[in-house]
Amino acid sequence: MKIFLLTAIMMAAATAATAPDGKKLYMQHCSVCHGDKGQGGAGANLKGKLVHPGSKAMFGIVKHGVAGTAMPASDLPDKDITKIVTYVQQLHRAK
Ligand code: HEC
Repeated sequence: MKIFLLTAIMMAAATAATAPDGKKLYMQHCSVCHGDKGQGGAGANLKGKLVHPGSKAMFGIVKHGVAGTAMPASDLPDKDITKIVTYVQQLHRAK
């Protein structure tokens, strides 16, 4: 029983480590250009008026990048991109 519990705890810890949340992913992959709060910098300000505000369009932008600009395509798994988009939508709504 003890061993079973220990295994369960270790598996839960491993899952947490391999499933970073949207904020973490954003800080790792996007904040260099878009700022730690989405305020912009080298990249677009994500708090102001967006060219493509919808989650679906944003997913496409993050996955494929914007050709001819510094905005890069991402090779992250779709589920991570979805997390980032959810986080960016939160940043965008936050004042
Ligand atoms: C190397 C710098 C750079 C990085 C890294 C980067 N971006 Fe961008 N991003 C840009 C630039 C520049 C634009 C503006 C493109 C344009 O002119 O259309 C942009 C545009 C965008 C837009 C479109 C904004 C609008 O008005 O609709 C979104 C959303 C976005 N980025 C999200 C992200 C996310 C999320 C990440 C991390 C996965 C990321 N970007 C990483 C530079 C970057």
